[in-house]
Amino acid sequence: MRKTIFMKNTIIEYENLYKVNKPYIALLKKAFSEVLDSGWFILGESVRKFESEFADYNKTKYCAGVASGLDALTLSLLALDIEKGSEVIVPSNTYIATILSVIHAGYVPVLAEPNLSTYNIDPENILGAITPKTRAVLVVHLYGKPCEMDPISKICKDHKLFLVEDCAQSHGAKYRGRLVGSFGDLAGFSFYPTKNLGCLGDAGAVTTNSESYYNKIKMLRNYGSEKKYHNTYIGMNSRMDEMQASFLSIKLKKLDEIIMHKRHLASIYFENLKPDFILPDRNNDCFDVYHIFNIRHERRDLLKEYLKKKNIYTEIHYPVPPHKQKALSFLSDKQFQISELIHRTTLSLPVSAFHTNDDIFRVAEVLNKF
Ligand SMILES: Cc1ncc(COP(=O)(O)O)c(C=O)c1O
Repeated sequence: MRKTIFMKNTIIEYENLYKVNKPYIALLKKAFSEVLDSGWFILGESVRKFESEFADYNKTKYCAGVASGLDALTLSLLALDIEKGSEVIVPSNTYIATILSVIHAGYVPVLAEPNLSTYNIDPENILGAITPKTRAVLVVHLYGKPCEMDPISKICKDHKLFLVEDCAQSHGAKYRGRLVGSFGDLAGFSFYPTKNLGCLGDAGAVTTNSESYYNKIKMLRNYGSEKKYHNTYIGMNSRMDEMQASFLSIKLKKLDEIIMHKRHLASIYFENLKPDFILPDRNNDCFDVYHIFNIRHERRDLLKEYLKKKNIYTEIHYPVPPHKQKALSFLSDKQFQISELIHRTTLSLPVSAFHTNDDIFRVAEVLNKF
């Protein structure tokens, strides 16, 4: 391993959004002034431009900008227009937003366990969760790793289930060469500031190849209205604003560079960490984008403390599984052992756009001495 010369008190942050956005400061300020001067702040030219750029990036026909990732998923599920009370299969290990979107749309979330190597929903467990009430599957490409989309798409086709993708953590990830967000009937993205493509506030987007879903999402995000003051659906206010859209257009141009940088940082972990740590799965089907680089260790909490004492900051995604959350107490009698094991042992290491190779060598060096 390369020896890094670090001052003892050098801090390696987990995330620093000032540093992440520093390369674009001049452009972001210019975009801010232009939007301010335009006097048009919501659903205008900047939103249309970003929607078209993001659809092109994802190789989907359509993209509709919305106010958040949660809304992108909720609106996608609402657009399917399935009977209220229908079951939607979701992974048991995800950020709670995935499950909330099902509830907000008026459906029942049915949790299915992930594969312990990929951390993504296991196609076999989707099959096991299907009941006569199942109408859709909502997959999550967790941490930036694509799910096994071929078997999952086949299951959905065979069982006539809608397929929606949660791409909140996976902008630019590919399964067998094809971008996530282009497999499902619809897909929801988040542009929360820490995402690989993050704005300077809240925003999200829905991608789809269906013109009718696209038109419906555009209405649903704007009070269900097709024409001003004429409302077709019980919609919501989930409009993307011009500031965020213009910031996202600037940052989208650098997304591939950021992904390559993060993949390179990940490769330093893969090449240098001792086998004591369980590393993320790597397989040729997946082009992973490492929104999060997690390792697993039985003594996770001690490890986190040890790193902190060495000025290395980490996060846990996530400390409490959805079925153990107070808000989802109707799931508390269920057991999801794989999910619980992941939540108990996972630790997210620094892997942000601003980290240098030396930062990551340093983290690996310190980890190897645990
Ligand atoms: C897997 C997943 N789904 C959905 C969301 C919701 O996105 P947002 O915070 O933009 O609403 C997030 C956000 O962190 C997420 O990680």
